[in-house]
Amino acid sequence: MTQVESKPTTNDTPFVPIEKIVALCKRRGFVYPNSEIYGGVSGIYDFGPLGVELRNNIRRYWWWSMVQLHDNIVGIEGAIITHPRVWEASGHVENFVDRLVDCKNCKRRFRIDHLPEENVIQNKCPECGGELMEPRTFNLLMETYLGVVEGERMQTYLRGEACQNIYLDFDNVVKSSRVQIPFGICQIGKAFRNEVTPGNFLFRQREFEQWDLQFFVHPSEMLQWFDYWKEKRFEWYMGLINHKDRLHFREHGPDELAHYAKQAFDIEYKTILGWQEWEGIHWRQDWDLSRHSEYSGQDLSYTDQNTKERYIPWIVETSGGVDRTFLNLLLDAYEEEPDPTGKEPRTVLRLHPALAPVKVAVLPLQKNKEELVTTARNIHKKLQRLMVSQYDDVANIGRRYRRQDEIGTPYCVTIDFQTLEDRTVTVRERDHMTQVRINIDELPAYLLERVTWQ
Ligand code: GAP
Repeated sequence: MTQVESKPTTNDTPFVPIEKIVALCKRRGFVYPNSEIYGGVSGIYDFGPLGVELRNNIRRYWWWSMVQLHDNIVGIEGAIITHPRVWEASGHVENFVDRLVDCKNCKRRFRIDHLPEENVIQNKCPECGGELMEPRTFNLLMETYLGVVEGERMQTYLRGEACQNIYLDFDNVVKSSRVQIPFGICQIGKAFRNEVTPGNFLFRQREFEQWDLQFFVHPSEMLQWFDYWKEKRFEWYMGLINHKDRLHFREHGPDELAHYAKQAFDIEYKTILGWQEWEGIHWRQDWDLSRHSEYSGQDLSYTDQNTKERYIPWIVETSGGVDRTFLNLLLDAYEEEPDPTGKEPRTVLRLHPALAPVKVAVLPLQKNKEELVTTARNIHKKLQRLMVSQYDDVANIGRRYRRQDEIGTPYCVTIDFQTLEDRTVTVRERDHMTQVRINIDELPAYLLERVTWQ
């Protein structure tokens, strides 16, 4: 896919406040608070008409680049609920914990790993300076129960990380798909965590979606593949953002490595929240397949067809968040531009055209001229079969352009009186607001070339 043009940022380029994105998302139907009429549930959101389009485009693009373009990568879709032993084997029952402290004075709650070091040492609240209470430990797994009869119900968990299904299905995939090491299995799916400090809109939720690649390799090739996927995933994110200088790697220190990782790098993106994890690249080694072999009693080792060597494959994991991608792309794309004519600033979402929820808006210049309206509706009907198109004849043309800019629509097609004479329309581009005249018959190919990934 073509890269988003670089938008050089300077130290003065302001970060977009999260509140602006929250307001836009509500106003234009991207994201709504879940169960809002009951007062909402912290850390859980619903996606509206435009949100679901953007989300689907983001997911499809990941799947296209990770699965469809690789001969040695296949996909699965596993269930959210698994056997409870899975989470014992994975180490989550024992290790998937956050340590929290409450302030005695202001009653605020903090994750210890998010506190500045001096506050931990001095046992002092970073907000009010009050004394902190004894730390408490919470497991993040969300419990659920299978069965209806009290006493016979099986307690299990909603999956705390989506990738576990990939290890559970590893042997089935090997036997049913003719894949050979090195190969990968991908999945996009929901994960659930009882986050003790959910917040910052979609950034830290209790129900969210992850995309995972688990790449299975011979131990002797681990370093080579770890470096390969680290670079590949970095380039992938780089291709989607305008502010190219707001993406970097951060290596995990020994004290912050997850229980399954021997080495880890985060791809981080800088927003108003500071540098924050977008995707993790983890050296999981043989942790998962060895543990599941041990706990299930099924041997999950692999036999090399050529050498007949039998071994437990090592794993490179790339694990990112669909919701964090959604949020980061909005924060990256949102801009308020001064209007040269001195009216209200223009709000524009500079999303990659292939990801934009609406690809084209079809606008008759006037809605009281039947011929303009009929021609516009016919064009819209044709385009609708190929891409998400919106027909809009409400308000003056300037207002309608603005409405589309605000939701990131890359092209607006205007049908005017010249159209009725020579079958040409105006195509107006979102970022530079340039306009070209195109014959109606050339329109589908012109747009498709610009709004699809290839
Ligand atoms: N399987 C590895 C794993 O789950 P992780 O770093 O805990 O690793 C991977 O999660 C990605 O999932 C993160 O980089 C982030 O994008 C996303 N993520 C994690 N917790 C999240 C939450 N509470 N809300 C939204 N996204 C989250």
